[in-house]
Amino acid sequence: MRYPTDWLEDLRARADILSVVSEYVQLKQKGRSYWGLCPFHGEKTASFKVDPEHGLYYCFGCKAGGTVFDFVMGMERMDFSEAVRYLADKFHVTLPDAPDDAREEERRTLRENILRLNREAAMFFHKTLYTPEGAHVLEYLHGRGLDDRTIRLFGIGASLNRWDALTKHLEAQGASVELLAQAGLTVRKEERAFDMFRNRAMFPIIDARGSVLGFGGRALGDAQPKYLNTADTPAFNKRHNVYAANLLRKTKNLKRVLLVEGYMDVVSLVSHGIEGVAATLGTSLTEEQAKLLSRYAPEIWAAYDGDSAGQNAILRAIGIFDAAGIPCRVLVIPGGQDPDEFIRDHGKEAFEALKPMSGVLYRMLRARDGLDLSDEEGRAKYAMASAEILRSVKQPVELENLLKRLSVETGYSREVLLQQIGIAPEKQPPSERRREVPVIRPAAAMQADAGSRAERTLLELMCFGLVPEGIVSEDKFENRDNRWLAQQLLAGKKPDALLVTTEDEARRKLLLEILSSEPKVAQDEAMQMVAECLECMRREWIEKRIAALKAEMSGAEPERKGSLLKEIMMLTNEKKSLGPGRKE
Ligand code: CTP
Ligand code: MN
Repeated sequence: MRYPTDWLEDLRARADILSVVSEYVQLKQKGRSYWGLCPFHGEKTASFKVDPEHGLYYCFGCKAGGTVFDFVMGMERMDFSEAVRYLADKFHVTLPDAPDDAREEERRTLRENILRLNREAAMFFHKTLYTPEGAHVLEYLHGRGLDDRTIRLFGIGASLNRWDALTKHLEAQGASVELLAQAGLTVRKEERAFDMFRNRAMFPIIDARGSVLGFGGRALGDAQPKYLNTADTPAFNKRHNVYAANLLRKTKNLKRVLLVEGYMDVVSLVSHGIEGVAATLGTSLTEEQAKLLSRYAPEIWAAYDGDSAGQNAILRAIGIFDAAGIPCRVLVIPGGQDPDEFIRDHGKEAFEALKPMSGVLYRMLRARDGLDLSDEEGRAKYAMASAEILRSVKQPVELENLLKRLSVETGYSREVLLQQIGIAPEKQPPSERRREVPVIRPAAAMQADAGSRAERTLLELMCFGLVPEGIVSEDKFENRDNRWLAQQLLAGKKPDALLVTTEDEARRKLLLEILSSEPKVAQDEAMQMVAECLECMRREWIEKRIAALKAEMSGAEPERKGSLLKEIMMLTNEKKSLGPGRKE
């Protein structure tokens, strides 16, 4: 939902950025701001600044910055609306009325009740594991190489080899069978109610907030089905969640998220010291899950089982990541093993030594499967299939590398392969044309830079309230984003408030850079500075205008020529009156 701007501003005023940041970072006061080690990138000297006056933070190292909302989004991996709700809750600000309040309230209560039952169930399963009745399950887990520390970390448990142990236990605590059934913990058949999970190793599915959403139950032997999963409930949607999100959230500065297929793969990898692992929940990857995972690291590596089902699932996953614009790579587990089997057999170092490959290369390798490259026909088929795949490669360097590889594999020349892809090999440009390439003169480049620097300085002065009314108008700004910001400021908007409502990346960056800079001048110097900026911008504009007029001259009618000339003269005079301008 969209929150009213006034309400957001009110929340932001109450959600004290100092106290929020202080939960994560040790801050030291220096003048009006506070400094500490940036929580968004590793560093040894403090380049992270909090400015409580404007409610902003900024890191001079990694350029992370923004309002208290951005901070929570970054630290807690929340989206905007989650961060808003989180802060509203924390600072006791009531959310603006949602439509259809009563039904929403009802749904929320149901969700909370189910989550509470799930938590109880998870504790019951976990405790059971360490009772005589659960001993065979514990033995099973130990037998699969899990120690008690790992079992505790994941809250793994045991469901009993009885009909209704959990149902009875939770009923005794006052839960209704109705609710237990809605939570997917109890199955009702005619008059009887019995446990959904019996005689299984229980893996609780815990989300980033620590809520137990449901369970995956592993059969102990060859009983079928091998895994039994909680079906979707009012509190759990498989499409939107992944296994071990709670641990992902806790690991900072992840280079990649490792996506695997099974619960056991996650548990086993983590127990061997591999960080940032998650799995889908018994279904193939969804777009929502891809986006969720992408919050935690700049790229995702898919490490699916080495069997053919797993390898086909990778192709689907790559398609989903590509469509969502999420960088992904593939880690092929050798020997047809799954990650759990591999790391148990070969250890952590061998696992870490596996090199991920790009999705495109993976697709090419798969296209080669089953083709005989010693045979002309096989090579042709492979070249054509690969050309199809290579069409999507945007980076010239990556394309070049893959082309070389394909050329070696198939014996076709680079030119032929390019043609197959549909890219005509570039022709040598005729020599006359080369002379026409425009040369940017250093002086012109410097002046262009001067103009945009003047715009920026003027905006800074405006942001810090150092420009008296009626002196500047937005049409003086050439750059689109600068003009937008000037317009907003002239309309009385506060720059830090703009940061809350602006979604455009370039504009946010502009705002942040300006807000994190200190005003370079004192009040009494400001007017002089404003005048210089305006002068510089005017000079810039005149130069462009004159160039445009001159360009028009060559093909113009005599009459038009006269008026063009007149304007050029006027502008030239105005420019002279402005003086040569300062270099800095
Ligand atoms: N799965 C499932 N139902 C099944 C089999 C599998 O929901 N009958 C899901 C589970 O989420 C499981 C994942 O698919 O974690 C991977 O399945 P699989 O590769 O068969 O199992 P492993 O992870 O290898 O499990 P294990 O090592 O316990 O055999
Ligand atoms: Mn396995």
